Amino acid sequence: MAILVTGGTGFIGSHTSVELVKAGYDIVLVDNYYNSSPKSLERIEELTGQPIKFYECDIRDKEGMSRIFEENKIEAVIHFAGLKAVGESCQKPMEYYDNNIGGTLALCEVMRKYNCKNIVFSSSATVYGMNNVSPLKEDMKTGGTTNPYGTTKYMIEIILEDIVKSDDEWNVTLLRYFNPIGAHKSGRIGENPNGIPNNLMPYITQVAIGKLKELSVFGDDYDTHDGTGVRDYIHVVDLAEGHVKAVDNILEGKKGVQVFNLGTGTGYSVLDIVKAFEKASGVKIPYKIAPRRPGDIATCYSDPSKAKAVLGWEAKRDINEMCEDSWRWQSQNPNGFED
Ligand code: NAD
Ligand code: UD1
Repeated sequence: MAILVTGGTGFIGSHTSVELVKAGYDIVLVDNYYNSSPKSLERIEELTGQPIKFYECDIRDKEGMSRIFEENKIEAVIHFAGLKAVGESCQKPMEYYDNNIGGTLALCEVMRKYNCKNIVFSSSATVYGMNNVSPLKEDMKTGGTTNPYGTTKYMIEIILEDIVKSDDEWNVTLLRYFNPIGAHKSGRIGENPNGIPNNLMPYITQVAIGKLKELSVFGDDYDTHDGTGVRDYIHVVDLAEGHVKAVDNILEGKKGVQVFNLGTGTGYSVLDIVKAFEKASGVKIPYKIAPRRPGDIATCYSDPSKAKAVLGWEAKRDINEMCEDSWRWQSQNPNGFED
């Protein structure tokens, strides 16, 4: 029996694959390499010390996906495959709805055909929208998303809940990630954004390496301790371990729909992160204050207590370790997987 990891060569998928093997799971990966590289697969093999079964396939290709289920006994799917750039989703909403929602529907159809009804889905804190007050809890009202990317996450949560309502053999775990950063300790896998990064940590590491001139801090007049935006940054390996616990849990038996925040419960501001990164790397980060970024909120952090109580999981790595590991990955691989 194996776990199918969609989007398995991506940032979070690659780290989760390593942790799944470490925990003793057999894994099969599928990815269309839209936002990842065959190098990532090689590095997963290097880190796990074993060959990894991989299919290059688009999850919307039902025939290709059926072949994976024909050739392997899949007992659960961790579903990472999707497009994730907020700004791009506003320019290309059709592509985002097609890939993220169409991809999930096609995947679920194939899973049903092969009677595999256990799925762990990559959702996001973005489903809490603009109006809830942190710490965010799983039972708060979701929706009110402000961009097509976020709306795909919200809609997929509803679709998966409806699937469980229609057929109680399904077990769905929705994992709402806060802000994943960091990288594997080895410096061999990490986040590999295309073009100029949108997210804070890859932007900072590219300033540190000299690819970008300076960081723009989007707004210093928020109602936070230093006026800059506060987020719940979580080490990607902690996040990966959370997925292993979610799979353990879903395979224990009947679960229905379960929802968990994966965060640390602590918020850091943009300037806190700049300082922590400078301390961990010894590199100064030049920055300027820029206007607020449309769609941003002042503060977003989790209440992670449900994942601790039910899954026995909590984040263990602190902000210093997150910065050190992000920097090791970037400095050892200045061009990501192109090096
Ligand atoms: P990523 O882009 O590094 O990984 C996604 C992978 O899916 C890529 O390797 C890409 O090639 C693949 N993919 C995309 N569409 C596909 C398709 N149709 N068929 C097959 N493969 C496909 O992103 P990530 O940061 O690892 O994120 C993984 C998941 O977690 C995504 O669903 C993302 O929306 C979600 N998420 C990410 C964050 C974050 O900050 N990174 C936060 C919340 C949620
Ligand atoms: C963003 C997305 C969110 C997605 C998440 C993870 C938006 C509005 N939200 O969240 O949907 O789930 O990424 O991929 O894009 N910042 C700067 N300068 C920069 C970059 C960021 O000051 O160059 C600030 C932001 O204003 C924010 C913080 O850093 O306060 C974190 O930003 P980012 O890493 O983009 O994550 P989110 O905005 O939390």
